[in-house]
Amino acid sequence: MTGDRAGNAISARQIYMAYGKTEVLRGIDVSMPQGQTLALLGPSGCGKTTLLRLVAGLLSPTSGEIAIDGQMVACPSLFVPPEKRGLGMVFQDYALWPHLSVAGNVAFPLEMAGINGAERQARVKAALDRVGLSAMADRSPSALSGGQQQRVAIARAIVAEPRIVLFDEPLSNLDRELRETMVAELGALIRGLGLTAIYVTHDQSEALTLADQVAVMEAGQIAQLAAPEDLVEHPASPKVAEFLRLGAVLSLTRDTGGWSYGGHALGPMGGPEASAAEVLVTPRALRIADFGTTALSGEVMAVQYRDTAYAVTVRLNQAAPAQTVQISSDTRMRLGERIGLEIVSDRLRWFPARTQAPVH
Ligand SMILES: Nc1ncnc2c1ncn2[C@@H]1O[C@H](COP(=O)(O)OP(=O)(O)OP(=O)(O)O)[C@@H](O)[C@H]1O
Ligand SMILES: [Mg+2]
Repeated sequence: MTGDRAGNAISARQIYMAYGKTEVLRGIDVSMPQGQTLALLGPSGCGKTTLLRLVAGLLSPTSGEIAIDGQMVACPSLFVPPEKRGLGMVFQDYALWPHLSVAGNVAFPLEMAGINGAERQARVKAALDRVGLSAMADRSPSALSGGQQQRVAIARAIVAEPRIVLFDEPLSNLDRELRETMVAELGALIRGLGLTAIYVTHDQSEALTLADQVAVMEAGQIAQLAAPEDLVEHPASPKVAEFLRLGAVLSLTRDTGGWSYGGHALGPMGGPEASAAEVLVTPRALRIADFGTTALSGEVMAVQYRDTAYAVTVRLNQAAPAQTVQISSDTRMRLGERIGLEIVSDRLRWFPARTQAPVH
């Protein structure tokens, strides 16, 4: 076994996975230290669940190696089955057994591990206490709300005191308010138990809230692996920026006078020495100005009050096809209002122009 995995709770190297002829993971490299939470973030179908199932041992990779706590669990010559990997799992659909009570569901992993009697009861009670459900131990799962059912699934995942817990979109079936509460609770639980966790989600705010490291996945590969603040400050590509909903990515061209957008001159604004580039425009990189006084202008399409300011969606006049940007405003703006937009050039993030598809 290779020794370089010491100290990492989970380490995956050069993972390839195909279902039949369809390759869905293409060269995944990721490792994480003990006690950290890694979020796998990416659009539907990018391979998040597949990667999680490979770590869990529910699937075997086409090639590559996976180690848990320094022990190889999957490589060409070895496959350790899920029950021997010592992991807890929480699924999107809860996967509770309807014929067992809440306590019976939570007790199940202990039963499988041969833990019985008073110790089992005490551990089940402790796990249910942790998720605030001890009063409902005797109920049937069908008599619980969605959020409560998910708490039962979480109690079941931690009852055997695994060091590593895998979460596959555990909150996606809950409404937004409950999801926000549960994210905070889960974060506290993970920290309190000192767990190492992999957390699959397609919700960027969940990932940025919970994770120490976020792997942004795109079509079977990791597009960027970084701490949340680094991802937000330094997205590696326009796609990552768009997926994190950091702002609008505009395609600009440059001539001697500076940058232009949709044929409208914007000025020098810094940026790379190239005739074309992509630029990420976050809400903080735009200021509202009087209509007609700026090169960039638009029409207010939507206004939403958030925390202390209004999030305003503006459709740019200069764009074809349609392009919207987000700005923040202290005052409520009217739908349809026409405004000017000033660009704060030192808040822009530049990327090389995306390679154009060949024109036939
Ligand atoms: N058992 C299977 N057989 C064949 N193809 C599969 C199988 N499971 C998944 N796939 C395909 O593999 C790709 C990755 O699937 P996966 O479930 O890992 O995506 P995901 O990122 O978890 O997506 P979602 O956010 O929708 O859950 C998809 O294109 C999917 O259709
Ligand atoms: Mg999935």
